[in-house]
Amino acid sequence: MSPAAEPRSGLRDVAPYAYTQLDVAARLNTNECPHPLPEGFFDELARAVHDLPLHRYPDGRMTRLREELAACAGHDLEGTWAANGSNEILTELLLAYGGPGRSALTFEPTYLLHSRLSWLTHTSVVQYRLQEPFTIGEQDVERAIALEPAVIFVCSPNNPTGNAQPVQAVRSLAERRDALVIVDEAYIEFGGQSALPLVADHPNVVIVRTLSKAFALAGARIGYCLAAPEVVEDLQRVRLPYHMSALAQAAGIAAIRHAPQAMSILQAVREQRDRIVEALCAAPGVEVFGSDANFVLFRPSKPAGEVWRGLLDRGVLVRDVTGAVPNGLRVTAGAAHEVDLFLHALSEVLS
Ligand SMILES: Cc1ncc(COP(=O)(O)O)c(C=O)c1O
Repeated sequence: MSPAAEPRSGLRDVAPYAYTQLDVAARLNTNECPHPLPEGFFDELARAVHDLPLHRYPDGRMTRLREELAACAGHDLEGTWAANGSNEILTELLLAYGGPGRSALTFEPTYLLHSRLSWLTHTSVVQYRLQEPFTIGEQDVERAIALEPAVIFVCSPNNPTGNAQPVQAVRSLAERRDALVIVDEAYIEFGGQSALPLVADHPNVVIVRTLSKAFALAGARIGYCLAAPEVVEDLQRVRLPYHMSALAQAAGIAAIRHAPQAMSILQAVREQRDRIVEALCAAPGVEVFGSDANFVLFRPSKPAGEVWRGLLDRGVLVRDVTGAVPNGLRVTAGAAHEVDLFLHALSEVLS
């Protein structure tokens, strides 16, 4: 028998992406929006789907979706690009600007996929560790730039720590014109200041966003970026043909058309987030980090693994982020009744 084919070197050392999707009363582990899509969304989508010529390939330029995204963000069409979730946008950016002999710098702790996608695209990873409270300062900028990365990731608000990064730090990073600065703004609708105004004067800044969080559309897989037209031209060189289905494009268009309603429910999410922060601040021995996002990072007064298990036993699923932040747990600001469940379960587990 001939030997089995060997995958690329190191692949089998990489664990498959872990999905913890459990049927529990409160799923507070993936930062999804707890509220359903706005009224009228499904009717509009159903009408659009009914008229779709699905026997044809979809619009490869995604013109209508990009027009809607561009208008919603206040950016130009030529500098707006879309893909199947912002993870695919990040992958395309790395395919275009990373690769063998190039490195990507991350400010840790941050979103795991930045390193993972860099590795997948044969881009070496330089992890720069930030001190608590995880804000990028001017000294960090200088040290990061000295490492000469081709790509720099800034996540703002940052996952899993929750804090937004100063736009000034992004500007200082962008002054180093030969590095592409990717600002991952997956949670920007919940708080923090966007770095989008920098794009006009800094064509090496790319803003990456998603409809998975604030727009409550995680299931449709739609992400986008706002950049200089040259960057979007480069992405067209690495994209797969017809990568976004006509169905996803229709869902994205309908979601953007309902943006005002979607944005109006965000205040409820922010209120739940602030309620979590307040309650955890009052819990003896619990360390809480401020949040500009739709989740909260905290350190319980007992081992995080034990607390995670205790919460799960009570029907509450949170994210164990101990790999990124020692003894850290991250909880999504869910609906009020889910937050009730979480706070009640936590007080039992910690008592
Ligand atoms: C910081 C950050 N960026 C990107 C993503 C990926 O989002 P998408 O669903 O658009 O691929 C996530 C998802 O959790 C995230 O936390």
